[in-house]
Amino acid sequence: MSIKDLFQTADWKKEKHVPVIESPESTAKGVLTQVKVSVGKQIPHPNTTEHHIEWIEVYFLAQGAKFPICLGRGEFSSHGAWAQGPNTSGIYTEPQLSLQFKTDKPGTVSAVGYCNIHGLWENSKELKVTE
Ligand SMILES: [Fe+2]
Repeated sequence: MSIKDLFQTADWKKEKHVPVIESPESTAKGVLTQVKVSVGKQIPHPNTTEHHIEWIEVYFLAQGAKFPICLGRGEFSSHGAWAQGPNTSGIYTEPQLSLQFKTDKPGTVSAVGYCNIHGLWENSKELKVTE
């Protein structure tokens, strides 16, 4: 067994756990590139004290590189729990992360999301870079 065996993936339009990466097909050197990652865009994922998305991490692997760079991480820590018990606060953080980054190299943007019940889900999207 390897940790890579723990990552599941699927078509995000059919499987609610798969992180949806919204980023351009291509960017230019020196230009800030906007990346938005969310879980449940097409099919909403539950957001309750018992069942929710806890975090999303975003990585970039430059073309030809061996090691990825972690671009950012979002922690979603409010899922309805309160002094009166589970699902009593009415306050729920949505699993959505936005970041901007610059790259002078093309590569792959990858995202991992963690559901407290259903584990780790990943998705990837290519990014081209023009001069
Ligand atoms: Fe789940």
